Amino acid sequence: MSFPATAVITGASAGLGREMAIELARRGTRLALVARGEEGLRETARLCVAAGAVEPIIVTADVTRAEDCVRLVNESAAGLGTIDCLINNAGQSMWAPFESVDDPAIFQRLMAVNYLGPVWCAHASLPHLRRSGGMLVMIASVQSKIGAPYHTGYTAAKHALEGFTESLRMDLDGSGVGILTVYPSWISGTRLRHSSEGKNGNGSDKGSDAVSSMDCARRIVGAIERRATSLFIPRWMALLPFFRWAFPSLLRHFVLRKVKRYHE
Ligand SMILES: NC(=O)c1ccc[n+]([C@@H]2O[C@H](COP(=O)([O-])OP(=O)(O)OC[C@H]3O[C@@H](n4cnc5c(N)ncnc54)[C@H](OP(=O)(O)O)[C@@H]3O)[C@@H](O)[C@H]2O)c1
Repeated sequence: MSFPATAVITGASAGLGREMAIELARRGTRLALVARGEEGLRETARLCVAAGAVEPIIVTADVTRAEDCVRLVNESAAGLGTIDCLINNAGQSMWAPFESVDDPAIFQRLMAVNYLGPVWCAHASLPHLRRSGGMLVMIASVQSKIGAPYHTGYTAAKHALEGFTESLRMDLDGSGVGILTVYPSWISGTRLRHSSEGKNGNGSDKGSDAVSSMDCARRIVGAIERRATSLFIPRWMALLPFFRWAFPSLLRHFVLRKVKRYHE
């Protein structure tokens, strides 16, 4: 498969999902846009058409429900004819010290949206991706590789996604299906920190070293085109696993200081 002619994007009603949709629309990809919020999806669809796309398919679905994941893939496949690319992007973060969390059910919700949703969507879409020789894109996080304060449940779910994806790569060896894992650090221009789970849940967006969601989207679409297997945003973050292995205390100190700065 060359550049994907069709793509399904979860979490396309806002943030990075919306920007990836617009970027793919510019390149002529026909899209199925998925999220819970129909209004946000309609706005993304409008922006995609303005960018030159044919009218995208809109599927309202909650990826924390297994039956919704099957339905969203079926409706997308029926509307698009094929699925060349599935982008598992829907996600939710947290922003609270572990002991301040009053409702432990948030850990279940974070696991459902950040881990189980992508697993269920991947499972339902793989027959289509095998037929098209397509690509499965996992929007993970640098927190798939390291820990971070106030993010216990989110980091755990993104680590689970990483373990799942690395094993799936081996299951799919020789299948013709490509897997791209994306590890962004801070992204600006999204709602993620404002919709975080947790008692102290309003982490701010003031990081000056954040990469814009538009820039992120461009880099991700470029990586899809190259059929890359991983993408760190920014690129130097690829050194994190090495730092975690070689200088674990130093890395913890650095991350703690950096994240706490945004918390105060
Ligand atoms: N922002 C960052 O700094 C950052 C850093 C690293 C990784 N990431 C990852 O990037 C991805 C996109 O995040 P973002 O920053 O663009 O966040 P965002 O602006 O909050 O967008 C999240 C998207 O996910 C959708 N979503 C949330 N829960 C859902 C559910 N249960 N079912 C279906 N859709 C759901 C939301 O739509 P509805 O509410 O309409 O359903 C929205 O479209 C996430 O996987 C996130 O973990 C972000």
